[in-house]
Amino acid sequence: MGKTHISVKLGRWGGVLHRPIFMLGILVLLICIATLSKFYSIRSLFISDTFCNDVHIEHQSNIRSDQVGVTVDAIVQKIHKEINEIKDLRMDSSSATLSSRYVAFLADMLGHIESLQTSLPSDEGAHQRNTEIGALHPLLRPKQRSDEPADFFLIEEIRKYLRIKPNRLGKQNFMGANGTFTSIGHACFAMKKELEEYMDYDIGEICKDDWKLAQRLMVHGCDPLPRRRCFSRAPQLYSQPFPINESLWKLPDNRNVRWSQYRCKNFTCLASNTTRKGFYKCADCFNLTAHELPRWIKHINLDLSMNLTADILIPEVLNIKPGGIRIGLDFSVGTGTFAARMREFNVTIVSATINLGAPFNEMIALRGLVPLYLTINQRLPFFDNTLDLIHTTRFLDGWIDFVLLDFILYDWDRVLRPGGLLWIDSFFCLKEDLNDYLEAFKMLRYKKHKWIVAPKLDKDDDREVFFSAVLEKPPRPFR
Ligand SMILES: *[C@@H]1O[C@H](CO)[C@@H](O)[C@H](O)[C@H]1NC(C)=O
Ligand SMILES: *[C@@H]1O[C@H](CO)[C@@H](O)[C@H](O)[C@H]1NC(C)=O
Ligand SMILES: *[C@@H]1O[C@H](CO)[C@@H](O)[C@H](O)[C@H]1NC(C)=O
Ligand SMILES: *[C@@H]1O[C@H](CO)[C@@H](O)[C@H](O)[C@H]1NC(C)=O
Ligand SMILES: *[C@@H]1O[C@H](CO)[C@@H](O)[C@H](O)[C@H]1NC(C)=O
Ligand SMILES: *[C@@H]1O[C@H](CO)[C@@H](O)[C@H](O)[C@H]1NC(C)=O
Ligand SMILES: *[C@@H]1O[C@H](CO)[C@@H](O)[C@H](O)[C@H]1NC(C)=O
Repeated sequence: MGKTHISVKLGRWGGVLHRPIFMLGILVLLICIATLSKFYSIRSLFISDTFCNDVHIEHQSNIRSDQVGVTVDAIVQKIHKEINEIKDLRMDSSSATLSSRYVAFLADMLGHIESLQTSLPSDEGAHQRNTEIGALHPLLRPKQRSDEPADFFLIEEIRKYLRIKPNRLGKQNFMGANGTFTSIGHACFAMKKELEEYMDYDIGEICKDDWKLAQRLMVHGCDPLPRRRCFSRAPQLYSQPFPINESLWKLPDNRNVRWSQYRCKNFTCLASNTTRKGFYKCADCFNLTAHELPRWIKHINLDLSMNLTADILIPEVLNIKPGGIRIGLDFSVGTGTFAARMREFNVTIVSATINLGAPFNEMIALRGLVPLYLTINQRLPFFDNTLDLIHTTRFLDGWIDFVLLDFILYDWDRVLRPGGLLWIDSFFCLKEDLNDYLEAFKMLRYKKHKWIVAPKLDKDDDREVFFSAVLEKPPRPFR
């Protein structure tokens, strides 16, 4: 009575339902649900992980799960029968949508029940084993099934997502795995409540407008997040983005962004230097004309008295490796201007950013560039020795922990190809911290093409300094 069997049936389903039969179906379902709710209350006892109760409950549960098993079997039979009967009926077209909803509902219920059924001890042997194990101290019990983490969560959709999905024909798949192993970040367990809220939706319906909750989860380490089976919300009226010959340097259409979670409600507000926007990093990044246009093409932060700047220009960097820089990553807070400029030099850059107080990802995409929605928590999604360039600005600053910086730099080193360039752009920190940070960058033992320390002038005091560098990853011809 596999799910495939049912889905084949449902696939063929094309008919329509008479109203009385529909009502009857609803009745059957209500009975099923009533029975199930009893079962769930028992199940929730399993899940509560109070240490002392555990042994006791497992004893009880073996007895109860017998009855429960029988009940669940009966429910499954009834639903199968119902689906079969619907299938055999001749329908008129008027109730088509109603009936297809009903069938979808039935199938969903069946899915719930069957997933419960598989988690019940199913045969005598299992019962025996459980009873023996139940007498043991909980810590002495053998390690449970490998999909055990699923049992930590109460929302069925999370459990479904986490459960190992064996391959359908019981063989290894082309990737050499016996199944598909979906996972979530371990911090998701600490954020159980938020994750359950995130995964609480109706399958096939429109999701809540909760990207901000998702981002909160990700930033706090619940990354990767589970996938969802609801349709993400889109802007109400999406107008086609501008063609690429116009989009790079033009503020996008306001209608192409959902603004509900931001302080600004349009791009003009974001671009203006007088509005309060709810973020401080890169506050001028949406002002494409005044602020963004000269970046990396002209020196902006030039200290005239000392003739000193931390700005390094794109042509200077590309000339280090003429023709050798083709693809790269920009790990920054920004609206994609670096990628836009590099595009003009025929270099393809993906821009990694999250939406910190403004729709940075949408902006980058609407400009016709590739946004990568990525937090600092994640290993970069690139293979070793692949990228020609990594550029970073306004992201790694004096806030960052030294050990974290180490992990990040090693990961960047991993994805850079030998001879690839790491461009640290206007890293800033307190003067007294500078040497410690410089040591961290020196640890890479890269070839220094540029190495600049310059005063940071935008604040009244002179406690902060800028550091910029262009470094080349050495070949490491070790075996
Ligand atoms: C994967 O399946 C094969 C048989 O197809 C089996 O021999 C092997 O032990 C399985 N591996 C795991 C990790 O389950
Ligand atoms: C952009 O390209 C389209 C066709 O590819 C053309 O019709 C349009 O005039 C161009 N716009 C600009 C500003 O060059
Ligand atoms: C943009 O938003 C600001 C406030 O957020 C508002 O004052 C202004 O009228 C809006 N402009 C347009 C063109 O909608
Ligand atoms: C961009 O900044 C300049 C100078 O700060 C300002 O004059 C201009 O109005 C800004 N652009 C927008 C769209 O607010
Ligand atoms: C906005 O830009 C104008 C023109 O560059 C400048 O005079 C003004 O001080 C800026 N305002 C703020 C709040 O930065
Ligand atoms: C500033 O320094 C650059 C080289 O770093 C030099 O080419 C330029 O002539 C200097 N400008 C002045 C005004 O000293
Ligand atoms: C980029 O490529 C185009 C087409 O191949 C070429 O015409 C253009 O000169 C290149 N630009 C640069 C800056 O190399």
